[in-house]
Amino acid sequence: MAAAATLTGWRNAVRRLLGAGRSRNPVSRSLSETRTVTLIPGDGIGPEISDAVVKIFDAAEVPIRWEERTITAIQTSSGQWIIPPEATESMNANKIGLKGPLKTPIAAGHPSMNLLLRKTFDLYANVRPCVSIEGFKTPYSGVDLVTIRENTEGEYSGIEHVIVDGVVQSIKLITEDASRRIAEFAFEYARNNQRSTVTAVHKANIMRMSDGLFLRKCREAAENAKDIKFTEMYLDTVCLNMVQDPSQFDVLVMPNLYGDILSDLCAGLIGGLGVTPSGNIGENGVAIFESVHGTAPDIAGLDLANPTALLLSAVMMLRHIELHDHAKKIEAACFETIKDGKVLTKDLGGNSKCSEFTSEICRRVRDHD
Ligand code: IPM
Ligand code: MN
Repeated sequence: MAAAATLTGWRNAVRRLLGAGRSRNPVSRSLSETRTVTLIPGDGIGPEISDAVVKIFDAAEVPIRWEERTITAIQTSSGQWIIPPEATESMNANKIGLKGPLKTPIAAGHPSMNLLLRKTFDLYANVRPCVSIEGFKTPYSGVDLVTIRENTEGEYSGIEHVIVDGVVQSIKLITEDASRRIAEFAFEYARNNQRSTVTAVHKANIMRMSDGLFLRKCREAAENAKDIKFTEMYLDTVCLNMVQDPSQFDVLVMPNLYGDILSDLCAGLIGGLGVTPSGNIGENGVAIFESVHGTAPDIAGLDLANPTALLLSAVMMLRHIELHDHAKKIEAACFETIKDGKVLTKDLGGNSKCSEFTSEICRRVRDHD
């Protein structure tokens, strides 16, 4: 009873504060629509590029409140590696995260926190759109494709052991469930994003059982998605065709390691990881959007970093939560800034600081109104 009375009192206090009753009150409307997103700035240049995104979102008046969380590797008494509980709680509550780069130790110490995040929240689909950016010259034009990578198993399952001295076995784990889930995701993604073709990328001629299973699940998903064209191609053939004419590809779906490698190759076609967005999607709307470039410790803190990859990942995030107008406005301001070519960071061919590039995008975002 006491608790209920307190709750009612609290509700009334909030209603008074928000001016409830006057339903057209703009404060109550925007507060109720504001969504909280977990922000993981990350290491190296992560805090600078995150700050840039926050500023641009402010300029665009995106109804988002950021909840900042730090990711460090924590080892439990049983030896298990976990991400900090405050970050897990935040993600569990908010469902949506935006993340800068996290450093990964090579062959020692804690596992990659990037991977642990994907695993912790079962973010099974890694989506990387690669679209040529007007005004940013690369040897390729007309690239407009999306790689969809199975994100939970394959060679990334982390099952490795020494059989005898000098012989190590690493398991490529392919399951029917994960293969079906990613295959169905790819067709649904194609349908929802007005794309016409899904290509399954595989080596079922060599890994007959594992890639064979993956391919079979893709074929089955294709049977149930007759509105989308389905093709299949060996990974090596995709690489050959990709560097000869990337414009022939649309949506590509593949197991984990193939996706890791091929998505970098595709990013290279449009100018590199500094301009390529990425999203890790799970069940029930849970997702983390991230830049996939490194932490660039050599330029960290010098106001030289390029925030484009994180910003475009944040734009993907806006589309995911259906804030399409804000997404369009920010994306346009970013692309116009690059096309205009006057205020660019060094890696984009200019001489401007990260903060100047950011201010230019903010200015264009405000001009759009
Ligand atoms: C990526 C990265 C990660 C991966 C690293 C940082 C663990 O290369 O997101 O593509 O290998 O998946
Ligand atoms: Mn990678």
